[in-house]
Amino acid sequence: MDGSRQLDTKIIIVLILILGFITNIYTKFEFTNMECIATDKEYGKFDYCYLKSKNRTYKYASMKYSTSEILPKNLLIALTVEKRLNGYKPFLYNISVDFCRYIRNPNPGNKVANFFYSLIKPYTNINHSCAYTGDIIVDKVPISFLSYKLTELLHFPDGDYRITTYMIIKDIKRTKIMIYFKLF
Ligand SMILES: *[C@@H]1O[C@H](CO)[C@@H](O)[C@H](O)[C@H]1NC(C)=O
Ligand SMILES: *[C@@H]1O[C@H](CO)[C@@H](O)[C@H](O)[C@H]1NC(C)=O
Ligand SMILES: *[C@@H]1O[C@H](CO)[C@@H](O)[C@H](O)[C@H]1NC(C)=O
Repeated sequence: MDGSRQLDTKIIIVLILILGFITNIYTKFEFTNMECIATDKEYGKFDYCYLKSKNRTYKYASMKYSTSEILPKNLLIALTVEKRLNGYKPFLYNISVDFCRYIRNPNPGNKVANFFYSLIKPYTNINHSCAYTGDIIVDKVPISFLSYKLTELLHFPDGDYRITTYMIIKDIKRTKIMIYFKLF
């Protein structure tokens, strides 16, 4: 074996590791917008949906959906991630989850659903058995928490992203929630 060539390879690997480390440190996250739309206005409504800045370091997102309907057992959550190029284009994830089954019996193998659920899990009342009557609340998710999850755990390239989630009941999209963020 050529010793100097092996050394070169080692140096290159170390450089790649260092560069990877530096890029991770400098990935910044900005939560740019959120929109909640009651696509089926007969079914229910969003009482609020906002991003709020308490001060320079503490920003959070909250939303509340209320309906007088009974949320049934066959409730589908569809989630799509898109990245902006010329307009938003599908990026990596486009999943749909039988929500009540998932909540009852979370599957450790369903890493994608687990990841996206983990973004709101500590801040929502959504984990209740189906069927359900009452409001769906996501309360004060700190943007720093989302930033940590979306930069440290997920290694997306820099850019503008949009995550869209639909709540689908009996094949009809009842709600649409979009969040927009930037990695730079
Ligand atoms: C921002 O607000 C939070 C919650 O009210 C508080 O705990 C934190 O100390 C504040 N930070 C600054 C820099 O004022
Ligand atoms: C995601 O998948 C669904 C079907 O599973 C499809 O109808 C939809 O168009 C897809 N969305 C995107 C953005 O590709
Ligand atoms: C929802 O709560 C139940 C009971 O606490 C728990 O067993 C289940 O794992 C939770 N589901 C998820 C998806 O975290």
